[in-house]
Amino acid sequence: MDSKIIILLIFISILSYQLHCCTAQPWTKAGYWYAGSESPIPDINSALFTHLICGFANVSSTTYQLSIPPEQEQYFSTFTNIVKSKNPSVITLLSIWNGQATTAKSILGEKVNTSVLSSMLNQSSCRKSFIESSIKTARQYGFQGIDLFWLWPNTASDMTNMGILLDEWRAAVDSELRNSSESKLILTMALYYLPSFEFGSYPIGSIQRNMDWAHVVAYDYHLPLNEKFIHAHAVLYDPSSNVNTDYGIRGWLAKGFPPNKLVFGLPYHGYAWTLVNPKENAIGAPSSGRAETEDGSMSYKYIKSYIRGYNAKTIFNATFVMNYCIIGSTWINFDDVESIRAKISYAKQKNLRGYNVFQVSNDDNWMLFQAAQEEDNGPEKKRRLLLIIMLPTALIIIILAFMMYYIRDRVL
Ligand SMILES: *[C@@H]1O[C@H](CO)[C@@H](O)[C@H](O)[C@H]1NC(C)=O
Ligand SMILES: *[C@@H]1O[C@H](CO)[C@@H](O)[C@H](O)[C@H]1NC(C)=O
Ligand SMILES: *[C@@H]1O[C@H](CO)[C@@H](O)[C@H](O)[C@H]1NC(C)=O
Ligand SMILES: *[C@@H]1O[C@H](CO)[C@@H](O)[C@H](O)[C@H]1NC(C)=O
Ligand SMILES: *[C@@H]1O[C@H](CO)[C@@H](O)[C@H](O)[C@H]1NC(C)=O
Repeated sequence: MDSKIIILLIFISILSYQLHCCTAQPWTKAGYWYAGSESPIPDINSALFTHLICGFANVSSTTYQLSIPPEQEQYFSTFTNIVKSKNPSVITLLSIWNGQATTAKSILGEKVNTSVLSSMLNQSSCRKSFIESSIKTARQYGFQGIDLFWLWPNTASDMTNMGILLDEWRAAVDSELRNSSESKLILTMALYYLPSFEFGSYPIGSIQRNMDWAHVVAYDYHLPLNEKFIHAHAVLYDPSSNVNTDYGIRGWLAKGFPPNKLVFGLPYHGYAWTLVNPKENAIGAPSSGRAETEDGSMSYKYIKSYIRGYNAKTIFNATFVMNYCIIGSTWINFDDVESIRAKISYAKQKNLRGYNVFQVSNDDNWMLFQAAQEEDNGPEKKRRLLLIIMLPTALIIIILAFMMYYIRDRVL
């Protein structure tokens, strides 16, 4: 009899562990909203996201304190309330980036004074000023977390100092909590797609110890302003080069970075290039530069309407995982639903924490989001459904077995 109870307990704990393992880590569905885009905040369908990140607070080159661009202040002060009115459980973060104000759709090609953050990191008093101001600003505007968007560390000492900053930042956030009735601020950061630069490696131990998660900026690899040959900017694979997301993610994981702290960055924009010869349009064909916009960047929404206007055809290339379209001598590469699906499936397969899009208002009627959602619901949901059916069935069988056991006992 005793041994039967033990078996029963073991069985139930295995089942509950199974259930726990599949619900413990919620899939992160994060997205940036860029205030410079000036797209209406109420248009964000916040019910679709677990986290929304409002960008960008700037860093002063003299005091290293955060500042909100004055012309965008209204957005930052209303962001959290507006997005929470549709989805009270969405978590909002304030992102920090020290670039120039711009109206372009993509920010990564923009000029950044890389020495501002380098100098901030370099001295303990400057780091303190930055950290205190980041916490104060996030609280003041009602954000629940802080994100550092800095992809331009330049030297080995930047990397070492970044490790120190993250330790101090985490300590400050934890200690702030002791005096506060609010919940603890989340800390996240953006990472370059590779864990190492020529001058050194990211402070991986410090990032995984101190950050709630980090997101790989897996796009803007090739920009038409800088290059003479066409290439897609966010390829998952590339048979002839290491500039691809799979190579980067495998690099992070090989360095021991935990997959459940790594979030996959998805672009909701693409780039238009001018072909030298419209007939020569495979990857690597000569280009004379950008097309259509100032830097060639186009939002997904704009690309779709542009393509509809020409009644053109979008092609998916599964070798690279990219979509493109050719209209005359204009070659536009971007992620359409097929690329997004393939990437979500990849992120799931690698057990990553989720995805983070740049930026939410570039979606076209939430089409890309839906593609991500469908892929996301695939295998995971089936597994959960199976458990939901399995668990009660197993319990009924156990109860029946015990009843039979007792009945037999009494009869004998
Ligand atoms: C860049 O930042 C450094 C360090 O804060 C500052 O001394 C310098 O004046 C800045 N340069 C420009 C062009 O703003
Ligand atoms: C951010 O600050 C730098 C100086 O540190 C300045 O050059 C830049 O224009 C500012 N960006 C915005 C968006 O205000
Ligand atoms: C700070 O930067 C200066 C000049 O770039 C460098 O000589 C110094 O070693 C740095 N100090 C620290 C603590 O990293
Ligand atoms: C928390 O409160 C104590 C006592 O009021 C104070 O000494 C300390 O500086 C506060 N810490 C923070 C991080 O505000
Ligand atoms: C993708 O494009 C490359 C060159 O541009 C080509 O060699 C390859 O066959 C294409 N793959 C698919 C699946 O279309």
